[in-house]
Amino acid sequence: MTKPSNPVVWRAVFLMAAVCGIGLAWKAGQGYTPDRQSIALGQDLFTHAWEVNDELAAEGDGLGPVYNAESCVACHFQGGVGGAGPNSKNVLTFLVAPIDRGQPVHEGVVHASAVSEECEETTALIRELFPPTPGGVTNDGMCRVRVPSVDPLTFQTINTPALFGVGELSKITDQAITWNRWKRNLSMMGQEMRGNWNMIPTGEVRTLDDGRIGKLGWKGQFADLEEFVAVACAVEMGLSNPLKQQLLPRNAASARVNITDSSAKLDLDQQQFDALVAFVESLPRPEQVLPDDPEACQIIHEGEDAFHEVGCAECHTPSIGGVDGIYSDFLIYRIEPEENEGNNGGGYGPPIPDDWPEDIPEPAEWQTPPLWGVADSAPYFHDGKSPTLHAAIERHDGAAKLSRERYRKLSPHKRSAILRFLESLRAPQVR
Ligand code: HEC
Ligand code: HEC
Repeated sequence: MTKPSNPVVWRAVFLMAAVCGIGLAWKAGQGYTPDRQSIALGQDLFTHAWEVNDELAAEGDGLGPVYNAESCVACHFQGGVGGAGPNSKNVLTFLVAPIDRGQPVHEGVVHASAVSEECEETTALIRELFPPTPGGVTNDGMCRVRVPSVDPLTFQTINTPALFGVGELSKITDQAITWNRWKRNLSMMGQEMRGNWNMIPTGEVRTLDDGRIGKLGWKGQFADLEEFVAVACAVEMGLSNPLKQQLLPRNAASARVNITDSSAKLDLDQQQFDALVAFVESLPRPEQVLPDDPEACQIIHEGEDAFHEVGCAECHTPSIGGVDGIYSDFLIYRIEPEENEGNNGGGYGPPIPDDWPEDIPEPAEWQTPPLWGVADSAPYFHDGKSPTLHAAIERHDGAAKLSRERYRKLSPHKRSAILRFLESLRAPQVR
């Protein structure tokens, strides 16, 4: 998705922006205020350990048939209810690249658990469903062409993010995200005119099928919190709800796509589902915690300055759409090392076909995660493979390589000041 910059396009974009009047960008999102009772019920549902035929299930079968954990809080708990999760709770997903032009990308989850043995899902089963296409030699007119074998399947392990402040995301309009992107492109254009080509590229927005911009999930795959919660219920725990039915277990007989269980009755009725959404939406936002000691405080401020100086703030935009201290531009980047291209190195999977669909991030592309609360959400990166903040920074390559190089060149004092700054971004003190 990430395209090389084009100054002519920027100029056109600038003109358009000027003509349209960008004041729109700051339009705040609106929401309703749910009552305390509803939020309390939502918290009970979030922390409840679900069972098969659970007593809380409205009229459905409770947990399963396939699921990843018994409760939301089993994964979302670090730094309080609703927090991030450890690697032991990572979710195993897979992507199937289109073999022929125009085919969709298949995405799915290999569930960790099932209510019975015959429902269990395994990577071997998914492998069987999506085998590599055999290579060989074909005749292309006069020439014999060797066609390599293609493996369309990539498994990815996904770490649980924290949900603190996730309700604030609804305030960030699509215009705020595109305006911020334009501003950056514009400033890059100015720099290029001054002969400076050494810059951090701007990422792409994730435009969903219905035209909205995605900002939830590691790949920005959802625009709306309610929809994400519906999918989390159905996919992680097998809880059918008014927006999404539980999944049928994948097995050799069930087809290649995720099939929802159309005969399933509701595990969460409308009132329960609304309450769960209200609770998640009500989770307080992370906060910066500054120490009383003025010297320690000074180092954090120096770290914040250095964070801007080396270009972290280009992607980890401190404020966007009226939400201060969030540290994300909600754009999609490829920040894996280039040498990983064409092999399985770094866990980023096989090379992808040339005709990968424009609107779906490639296996190695991820959305800039907000850094608020980052001190309490280790391990880091989409796969949780970076145990510390330092390791996470060191792993920045590709589009973020320049800022990592600048970080490495900082004095040890300034490098550790950046870490102190990130460590001041804490989960809220919840319940
Ligand atoms: C097995 C662990 C697990 C369980 C159980 C789980 N989640 Fe999650 N949650 C995740 C992972 C992993 C992601 C990131 C998914 C992605 O981006 O592909 C996530 C992401 C989310 C997000 C999006 C957050 C963001 O800022 O992008 C929401 C909202 C969410 N979960 C809510 C819930 C709710 C509500 C429940 C209970 C019904 C739940 N989750 C149960 C692991 C879990
Ligand atoms: C080109 C954009 C870009 C720049 C510049 C950038 N980052 Fe990132 N950052 C990302 C993306 C994208 C990810 C997620 C990658 C993934 O999960 O595979 C990320 C992840 C992180 C994480 C892990 C967050 C988490 O919740 O797991 C930290 C910490 C971080 N960046 C800090 C920094 C710091 C400090 C700098 C400056 C030295 C920086 N970043 C520069 C795009 C950027």
